[in-house]
Amino acid sequence: MRSRKILMISGFLVTWTYVIIYFMPKVNTELPLLRNRHEQAVQQLEDGVRQEYHKTDKLMINLLGILQAKYATEAPEKEIRIQALPQNSQTILSLQEPPAIGPDQELQQDVLETPNETQTSHRPQTEIPSTVATRLANNQPVIPVLVFACNRISISKCLDNLIKYRPSTEQFPIIVSQDCGDEATRNVILSYDQQVSLIEQPDQTDIFVPPKEKKFKGYYKIARHYGWALNNTFSKGYEFVIIVEDDLNVAPDFFEYFLGTHHLLKQDSSLWCVSAWNDNGKANLIDSTHPELLYRTDFFPGLGWMLTKELWQELSVKWPKSFWDDWIRHPEQRKNRVCIRPEISRTRTFGKVGVSNGLFFDKYLRYIKLSEEFVPFTKMNLSYLLKDNYDKTFLKEIYTYPVVTYDELRRNLITRDGPVRIQYNTREVYKRTTKMLGLMDDFKSGVPRTAYHGVVSFMHNKRRVYLAPNVNWKGYDLSWS
Ligand SMILES: *[C@@H]1O[C@H](CO)[C@@H](O)[C@H](O)[C@H]1NC(C)=O
Ligand SMILES: *[C@@H]1O[C@H](CO)[C@@H](O)[C@H](O)[C@H]1NC(C)=O
Ligand SMILES: *[C@@H]1O[C@H](CO)[C@@H](O)[C@H](O)[C@H]1NC(C)=O
Repeated sequence: MRSRKILMISGFLVTWTYVIIYFMPKVNTELPLLRNRHEQAVQQLEDGVRQEYHKTDKLMINLLGILQAKYATEAPEKEIRIQALPQNSQTILSLQEPPAIGPDQELQQDVLETPNETQTSHRPQTEIPSTVATRLANNQPVIPVLVFACNRISISKCLDNLIKYRPSTEQFPIIVSQDCGDEATRNVILSYDQQVSLIEQPDQTDIFVPPKEKKFKGYYKIARHYGWALNNTFSKGYEFVIIVEDDLNVAPDFFEYFLGTHHLLKQDSSLWCVSAWNDNGKANLIDSTHPELLYRTDFFPGLGWMLTKELWQELSVKWPKSFWDDWIRHPEQRKNRVCIRPEISRTRTFGKVGVSNGLFFDKYLRYIKLSEEFVPFTKMNLSYLLKDNYDKTFLKEIYTYPVVTYDELRRNLITRDGPVRIQYNTREVYKRTTKMLGLMDDFKSGVPRTAYHGVVSFMHNKRRVYLAPNVNWKGYDLSWS
């Protein structure tokens, strides 16, 4: 039998490498004098042997796979279902997948993934109907909310909340895009029946990750998922899409906010997104009496955001393989465009179960305040956010406010009322000052979080404070990180 021969050969190979690994250190200890001199050489040999062993191991697994496929016709244990979809004739491979990783990729440092060994078996997938309305009868755009899901059943908290505040099911269809094929999560999504539609990322093949970035594999999958889902959704003809992650709660006026701002994206080519998130949105840093306040920011905040079809057309053709949000913040993509962000966040993450950025959540994200009031954005004049108006008023004004030091601010030594300005000229001063004030202190592509022309706006003891570079600021320094 051929299979038996192959098994014997591979069995011999494995035994042989074990024997070598076993004897290596023995030889070594018998020659204590040579040990120092040859330590490195031996080490290298050992490493080599280990590598060979791993290779043999892999070969074995491959061989077994081949043999299984060839000979084991009765009742295969692990079944891979290939399911052809009638609508778009795409193929779904349902295999186990590692858990999802949070939306904010600056939390990426030490994310590890552990595959969940649950078997999945698919029932037919729901697709976005191929003919969808992209405009309402009154010519208002239909703006789908695209929710990214993987294997967190707590997505129900996110969906309940979206459905609760959704003013119109026609105008805001909720599309949940699921990667990973986790069955439990899938069932949760399907339990919403007509209220949400489910689409599933079909490419469940293993993704290529350079060896050095193995631990970031989750981010490669996220980028693949985003690329696919956005392509899929925009291909239906929508002009805007709102992106939400499965661990976000939204504010009562979440939809009103996007409804009131979407036209700005078309009006002002220097705007490329509307985000619901304030990175410095902790309760003590915001003005809770002004939930209607909005800003322009050079920093892409993500975490509940809207983009246009035109922007997606531009980005989709060069969409990255991983770390899409750092990529999008790079000058090559951003091209000096800015987002709108609120004074008080309209989204809040309710925690990332099973991911090692729990610490970051406990230390920071949980304190971000979610706006509670309903602001009628659609009835407001928001043209102050257009570049020409904003730069003439917001930026000009800031440089009329008196400059104070952090110390004066802290010790309440400022006698006059009204806003003040703290100046920074170097990265170090910026870092030190933000740390003392409890602001986010990091940069992406040289841009501080929430900054517009380098200016970061926040509250301190009921006073508006602008942390600002000096007036002849020349632009962001990519080396600030
Ligand atoms: C996999 O997920 C299921 C729930 O879907 C859970 O009960 C199980 O403990 C998980 N297994 C691992 C290894 O995480
Ligand atoms: C989206 O679709 C376009 C056109 O088919 C293609 O060129 C592009 O590579 C796709 N992008 C992604 C991220 O899948
Ligand atoms: C809206 O505000 C802008 C200034 O930001 C002003 O020029 C314009 O007249 C206002 N429009 C209306 C209809 O009030």
